[in-house]
Amino acid sequence: MNHEELIQLALRAREKALATYSKFQVGAVVVTRSGKIYSGCNIEISSYGLTMCAERVAIFKALSEGEREFTHVALVAEVAGEPCYPCGACRQVLWDFAPKAEIICANTSGEIKVFQMRDLIPHAFGSDNLK
Ligand code: THU
Repeated sequence: MNHEELIQLALRAREKALATYSKFQVGAVVVTRSGKIYSGCNIEISSYGLTMCAERVAIFKALSEGEREFTHVALVAEVAGEPCYPCGACRQVLWDFAPKAEIICANTSGEIKVFQMRDLIPHAFGSDNLK
């Protein structure tokens, strides 16, 4: 699947967003090494700090099904003038579980930027630091 197709799937996932409080709807997909796709949307909770981002919903779904290797992550939201970038918490999670993945950031107007995880989280803390 190409970047546009992955963004289309992320847009479809975004339709399910539970963005009750912020109204900021986010959709994401992760692609496994074998080509399976898992999607997620953001899920907001009345105790706001418990809210879960779309990227983490998608990758946690995949991890809980036994997936361990990821090639792509795509996310999309309505942001003016630039794509939607993953938040800091999601960057750490993606660094731990999808360090080699291409991160495709998009907005609903069709703007796209693609990153490597090492560029999104320089000087990262990770499992190597715990050895
Ligand atoms: N959000 C995501 O789903 N992913 C991100 O990377 C950025 C933020 C969600 C969390 C919250 O539901 C809403 O966007 C506003 O922060």
